[in-house]
Amino acid sequence: MNRLSLLNANFRRIYRVLPAGMQRSVWLLFFLMTAMAITELASVMALTAFFATINRPESIINSCYAKQAAEIWPEVRHILDDPRRIILWVSILPIALIAAKNVFSALVAWKSSMMGERVAMHIGGKIMQRFLYMPYSWHLSAQSSRALTCMGWRFSIGSMLIQILTAYSNLITVGILFAGLACYEPGVTFSCVLMMASTAFFTYSLLRKRIDRAGADAANAQAKETDANVTAIGGVREIIIYQKQQRFLDAIRQYTQKCIRPRSFLSISATVPTWTLESAGFMLIWFAVFYLITVQDAGIARITATVALIALTAWRVLPSLNRVVSATVSIRSLQATALPCLEYFEGLAKETTDDPPLAAPYFAIRKEIVFDHVSYRYPGAKENALTDICCRIPVGTTLGLVGRSGAGKSTFINILSGLLAPTSGQLLVDGRPMTPEELAAYRSQVGYVPQSPYMLKGSIAENVAFRDWGQPLDEERVRQACREAAIDFLGPDCKDIDRPASGGLSGGQAQRVSIARALYTEPSLLIFDEATSALDQASENMVQEAVAHSKGKRTCVIAAHRLSTLEVCDSALLIAGGKIDSFGEIHEILNRYQMNYLAEP
Ligand SMILES: Nc1ncnc2c1ncn2[C@@H]1O[C@H](COP(=O)(O)OP(=O)(O)OP(=O)(O)O)[C@@H](O)[C@H]1O
Ligand SMILES: [Mg+2]
Repeated sequence: MNRLSLLNANFRRIYRVLPAGMQRSVWLLFFLMTAMAITELASVMALTAFFATINRPESIINSCYAKQAAEIWPEVRHILDDPRRIILWVSILPIALIAAKNVFSALVAWKSSMMGERVAMHIGGKIMQRFLYMPYSWHLSAQSSRALTCMGWRFSIGSMLIQILTAYSNLITVGILFAGLACYEPGVTFSCVLMMASTAFFTYSLLRKRIDRAGADAANAQAKETDANVTAIGGVREIIIYQKQQRFLDAIRQYTQKCIRPRSFLSISATVPTWTLESAGFMLIWFAVFYLITVQDAGIARITATVALIALTAWRVLPSLNRVVSATVSIRSLQATALPCLEYFEGLAKETTDDPPLAAPYFAIRKEIVFDHVSYRYPGAKENALTDICCRIPVGTTLGLVGRSGAGKSTFINILSGLLAPTSGQLLVDGRPMTPEELAAYRSQVGYVPQSPYMLKGSIAENVAFRDWGQPLDEERVRQACREAAIDFLGPDCKDIDRPASGGLSGGQAQRVSIARALYTEPSLLIFDEATSALDQASENMVQEAVAHSKGKRTCVIAAHRLSTLEVCDSALLIAGGKIDSFGEIHEILNRYQMNYLAEP
């Protein structure tokens, strides 16, 4: 990729993902940057003119412009009469331009950092939005640490955009400068341009491959470090028990150490062009002097004039050229983190998501829920987790699910709750197949208590009223749900619902909060997946009572290993190896299960 296509391709890619308002801000920032670069150039020119006036005020006095001005405004003649006054007035121009340049610089600095933050916020927000609305099956196969790594890298995209704009605006200045100087001093400009452009090109070519390698190494090590950190944080209990702290620390240190060299190289790489270009500028002066003395045998006056001319040209050209090359180098080094983040973002944008329902549409389960030849295979799995399941659950009944570990109970429940769509076959509600569009509305009727509950950082009340999170919650309904879920750790009549939930709950307590959360929604379909496995018998009996109490009003599906849990059910489904073994009256199925699957051989 040559330098211009590196800028253009990356610019187009970032620009495309920005909303219209931010795209307008990009152009505004570009305009400000160009204005800043041009006023900076103009102030350098004005300073040169100012010093020339100090040396030779008569050049102003005798100029035709001054004479014309004196004819229009007679006061100008008064100034032209005294060279000191001329110097005083001419000094206003560089001062005004320097002030304007500084105003533009301040605006550019402010707008740039705002733009960087806003781009990162937009990309991060969109990544999280797509991530959270992805279907559950996508989450099963995707690594959440990749999303986390990309969230950390999103700032590179904003920085890259700013560097691209810096490079563009300075390219414009360099172009104007060269065109102007070439008219004025073609010989010196040509040699300056040749020397500096070849130095810039040589520096960039030398750095390019090293930057790519360092960028890839740093990004790779950083992604692995995030992975190790996520694993360490998630598995801290096991790490302490099995004393694996050192192993994790070693792994993390190994990755951070791998980052040191490439990151240090990347952080100085943008400064390298400044050093080489500056050295090249001085070398050019030395070559000119060498050439004038040895080849031309020039006198001191000519040498001094030429050196002054080269130094002045280099002084004007160097800052802008420097910025172009430094920005290009920075873009190259930011690519390693910005491009994978953009790729992840673009990849997410291509996936179909469960789009947010505009308003919760009314949905009712009136008669039955039917599994019609349902099969399911997990993404990337070689075999089906469920095969050809046919089963009818009439509204108001309670169904038990039994089967050995790995038989497919949770998979059945994931399909029943609308979390997973069948790979083949269909889920019918009152004879209507549940399309992806209808699943969100269907899920609003489901109360789901999973095997391992999730606790939100907040109060018990917020956890129970999870469906109303962020809105005013119904405290009386929270208490009622807590009572039905046999919650006995919130004081008399569940008074203490505002106590924090995270951290201080036992496994059984967390399960009961999760049961209360499901009951709070007053669901038409209540699903328990091993939801009472951590409860003592007394608590379980209370929950069972609540389930029995709502019989006829709501449909319940309960998966459990403990057979006594299933006593409340009307019928049961025995699953073995992902297929239906038998379906029938509860006691008949439990006996069959005990005989065929639990009895000692
Ligand atoms: N995310 C997944 N990716 C691939 N295969 C999976 C995934 N989750 C479960 N499986 C497989 O699907 C099959 C059924 O698993 P499921 O969790 O439904 O069993 P289960 O009956 O609920 O078991 P348990 O009683 O232990 O909870 C198992 O063979 C399991 O290995
Ligand atoms: Mg399970």
